[in-house]
Amino acid sequence: MWRVGILTASDKGSRGEREDKSAQVIRDMVAGIGGEVVSYRIVPDDLDVLKEALIKMVDQEKLDLILTTGGTGFAPRDNTPEATRAVIQREVPGIPEVMRYESLKKTPRAMLSRAVAGIRHQTLIINLPGSARAVRECLEVILPALAHGLEILT
Ligand code: MTE
Repeated sequence: MWRVGILTASDKGSRGEREDKSAQVIRDMVAGIGGEVVSYRIVPDDLDVLKEALIKMVDQEKLDLILTTGGTGFAPRDNTPEATRAVIQREVPGIPEVMRYESLKKTPRAMLSRAVAGIRHQTLIINLPGSARAVRECLEVILPALAHGLEILT
């Protein structure tokens, strides 16, 4: 069973003004590869808050996989890729490449996601877009390869 964490970056969500439908999609879909969501945080789109949350989830909670959702676009407060890049030690470019490539077949707006993925210690961190539909479309294409990646990481 993979220990999975969800980090939702959303100003509105963190104020309780928006239901986090994307987190539910993640929970349901990771179950399909033997993943269990054991950690969940919803935080505002602050660079430092995001960095701190990611570091805690890796260094203290020692999760196998962290899926972030939201904050990968062009809005001034979209800080998730910068927070991720600041905490990872090795980048995994193929994962966001494939997410964008496959998502482009559904919407040209897929190219607007600045999502990154990378490894800190023994945890894989992957940025997903914010909307529940986008999360589903991205997870569909990456989940088949993830278990093998997680196996060789530990
Ligand atoms: N990827 C998929 N598969 N489906 C989508 O609908 N939306 C895009 C893109 N990636 C989308 C997608 C849009 S409109 C944006 S602005 C970026 O993701 C960033 O989204 P975020 O700011 O919610 O992270």
